Amino acid sequence: MVKKNACVFISGTGSNLKHLINNSRDYNFPVKISLVISNNPSSKGLAYAKKNSIPYLIIDTKKRNFEISTLNKIRKYKISIICLAGYMKILSKKFILSFSKRIINIHPSLLPKFKGLNTYARIIEKNEKKTGCTVHYVNDRLDDGKNIIQKSFFLNKNDNVNILKVKTQKLEYLAFSEAIRRIYRYS
Ligand code: GRF
Repeated sequence: MVKKNACVFISGTGSNLKHLINNSRDYNFPVKISLVISNNPSSKGLAYAKKNSIPYLIIDTKKRNFEISTLNKIRKYKISIICLAGYMKILSKKFILSFSKRIINIHPSLLPKFKGLNTYARIIEKNEKKTGCTVHYVNDRLDDGKNIIQKSFFLNKNDNVNILKVKTQKLEYLAFSEAIRRIYRYS
């Protein structure tokens, strides 16, 4: 099958990137991870790009023209979908409109609940019964676009921030790839 090109944006550990790379090896997976972009030169996730010989780009979001040069790179690699996997910067409305193809994000809560940062601590503080993760389309508002998939689980009394993170990320690794499969199956 002819795979579409995907670009994954990261800022940190890159465990979602790692799973996307592994899952994309499947012959039937609709995309190939063709480019990795990080705004953080010491992002651990860059090691996965290097290890798998995937081209990567480190961007300096303080530079005035960084969005233009990022878009140029994305065009050069004929990217059909951008996957935000722990990318800790907000994409500008201009960037989103200029790309004009799909941009998706993964968030560690059942959106629209708990948009934004410090998600796990807020979930525990609010005594939520159920939580999970969401893969959604990106628009110019934070954690706001249409949901593609959610996966959930019930909290235990002893769950703390670290346990919640482990449980949620286990579901994220499944949800991200499932969302991509879903997008291309229905398009
Ligand atoms: C993920 O848990 C995701 O929900 C959030 O950032 C985290 C990134 O983790 N947006 P990693 O870099 O993929 O390990």
